[in-house]
Amino acid sequence: MKIARFSRVGFILAAAGSAVGLGNIWKFPYITGEYGGGAFVLVYLITVLTIGFSIMIAEMLIGYLGRMDAARSFEKLAPKNAKTWRLAGMMGIWAGILIMTFYSVVIGWILHYIVVAFSTLPSCVKEAEVAFNTLLHEDIMTQIFYHTLSFLFISAILVRGIKAGIEKLNLILMPLLFIIVGGMFLYALTLDGFAQAWHFMFSPDWSKLSSEAFVVAVGHAFFTLSLGMGAILTYSASLPKEVNLVQSSLIVVALDTIIALLAGLMLFTFLYQYGAEPSKGPGLVFISLPATFYAMGTLGNIFAILFFFALAFAGLTSAVSLTEPMVQYLIDKYSITRLKAVMIAGGFFYLVGIVALASNSSSFSQMLTFGSKNFFNWVDYITAAFMLPFGGLLMAIFIGYKIPKEQVFAVLGKNLGRGFEFWYFILRYIAPIALIIVMLNLLGVIKF
Ligand code: TRP
Repeated sequence: MKIARFSRVGFILAAAGSAVGLGNIWKFPYITGEYGGGAFVLVYLITVLTIGFSIMIAEMLIGYLGRMDAARSFEKLAPKNAKTWRLAGMMGIWAGILIMTFYSVVIGWILHYIVVAFSTLPSCVKEAEVAFNTLLHEDIMTQIFYHTLSFLFISAILVRGIKAGIEKLNLILMPLLFIIVGGMFLYALTLDGFAQAWHFMFSPDWSKLSSEAFVVAVGHAFFTLSLGMGAILTYSASLPKEVNLVQSSLIVVALDTIIALLAGLMLFTFLYQYGAEPSKGPGLVFISLPATFYAMGTLGNIFAILFFFALAFAGLTSAVSLTEPMVQYLIDKYSITRLKAVMIAGGFFYLVGIVALASNSSSFSQMLTFGSKNFFNWVDYITAAFMLPFGGLLMAIFIGYKIPKEQVFAVLGKNLGRGFEFWYFILRYIAPIALIIVMLNLLGVIKF
């Protein structure tokens, strides 16, 4: 039984807080840089607006109808195959905690960079690169320190529960985040580099779209919308009954997409303006950007502080949503207190997170590298490229085939209107086919 429920605005901000995260401000710009810009952005946008939006509605519906944690919502709605379907929920719950093992480490880097922004920024890209690489490869203790801070903050929010913890956090941090990103974007608009940034992001060069880029774009669409692992589901289990799921999904998808595009344009503008490279990989916001801020002088210093705060806000509001499904599951399943559940879920990502950050270090990387990737990158890859799309596929099948159409229509019919059949069609055919292609490609069964 849930007692505390989200308010309507609280829910939308919490769901948007989940969606808008490191994926938007850290990952989206650098993968756009790596995979060549325009064509990649277009595939991402199309996926978000069709499959992403459709599955967002479906995932919200599962929580809204189930009213329980991710695993038991499936069980309850499919009593005949409860055992099988609960696995879909369990996979999602685990995906969230696994993502947290590296997500919390990255939040740690960001906290470290807030401190850097307050003291001295690196004066050129070379220096910035050395600083970031030193942190990553040599300085395990600093990383553990900030990873610990991140863990403590996230736990402190989660023990307060849905209303006093998660909702409140999002009510405060999300508006701040929008103001910071919006303000910095407006400044970027006045710079010459903006035209180049626009061109880079919105002029598709199809020759650059490899099949890998395609898979990454679809995977990222899931990651950035927080789909396929029961985060949105867990939140919507605490919704007031009268909420319009379609409208809520639309707002969340729109906010997430807008923030990603604004952050991308702003970042690339700054980089072009000051002659740094867009294709810098995961170090983009930690290497090229700090050096760029330095070049901007005092204003750059202020921007650096604001930017890393915004990034931390984005990360923390997502992190609570990645952990909450496991917390809720433990509470429902074992009837333990919230505090205990948070300690177990948090303790897990905290400890495994230390393994993840150690796998980047020069002392332990050899031990913790398996094949082509180290532990840190494997977790990122397996969750974003496989577990989330697979979870999304299961959700699409669940709502599209398992739950009777009348029951689905009863909730969504009046909100979707004539779009209902269209949505249902995407959910039953387009989304599963696209997701199966992505997964087969990933497994190397088909190549295109
Ligand atoms: N969407 C977040 C981001 O863009 C990450 C995230 C939070 C997430 N909750 C999730 C990803 C649930 C997948 C599933 O950074």
